[in-house]
Amino acid sequence: MIEPNDTLTLGKLSLTYRVLFTGYLLVVGLGLCMAGAQIMLTHGMADGKPGLSMNDIVYSYYGNRSGSKLEAALTGKMKDKAPAEVNFTLIKWARDGAPDAEWSKIAPLLEKNCGNCHDSESGLPEVTKQDVAKTLAEVDHGASIATLTRVSHIHLFGISFIFLFVGWIFGMAEFNQRWKLILISTPFAFLVLDVASWWLTKFWPSCAWITMVGGIGYSVAAMVMFATSFAQMWLPRWTKK
Ligand code: HEC
Repeated sequence: MIEPNDTLTLGKLSLTYRVLFTGYLLVVGLGLCMAGAQIMLTHGMADGKPGLSMNDIVYSYYGNRSGSKLEAALTGKMKDKAPAEVNFTLIKWARDGAPDAEWSKIAPLLEKNCGNCHDSESGLPEVTKQDVAKTLAEVDHGASIATLTRVSHIHLFGISFIFLFVGWIFGMAEFNQRWKLILISTPFAFLVLDVASWWLTKFWPSCAWITMVGGIGYSVAAMVMFATSFAQMWLPRWTKK
């Protein structure tokens, strides 16, 4: 079913609103691409390998409970920064629970092998400081509840606003009515699913796949709505009637 012709469709909008909506959609589209890139750069590297995988999601939310961040770094990205026996000593210290008594032995190793990069200017954790080193030596429990609540509410408020306007604009497109309703509601449903999946993964790592599905779901819905809206605002097939 196509919307009746007397309703306001995208192609019949005045130039003013077509320019306004196009500007908005372009900037939001750019924002969504940046969000995707940021996910790849932060979560994507969580397991030490580029590209987003299930392990990245599990490590980000559930944590890598087989060991500490320090151990993960020393067996992964930081492996070649110090001789193998130094790595071994550092890992053993972490596994023993980072005892204070051994700090005098550990500190010079960190100072010598790690300090020149992990200094106060680099923005990297200052591993030569005892409290920082101890925190990194703790078993990694992933995102904390405090972090999850913060990120969840920002995500829910922010993204629902984006899709309110994207859906509003797309709502004026000539489109099969049933599919229109599905496309407009999909981002909201997947948004809730996405946020829920972080919490589920925090407690049950086997739920990581839901995070993937959630992200893919609203990306696809967004792309269809964006492409349709642009086409119907600017292509003569819809504007000349
Ligand atoms: C050549 C510079 C350099 C040296 C030397 C170096 N690091 Fe790093 N380290 C980095 C950079 C850059 C990152 C961030 C890498 C990333 O996230 O992709 C990093 C990340 C880390 C992380 C992960 C931090 C986090 O919050 O997840 C740990 C832990 C770490 N390094 C420990 C060490 C230790 C221990 C040493 C000494 C054995 C060391 N690094 C030596 C540059 C260095």
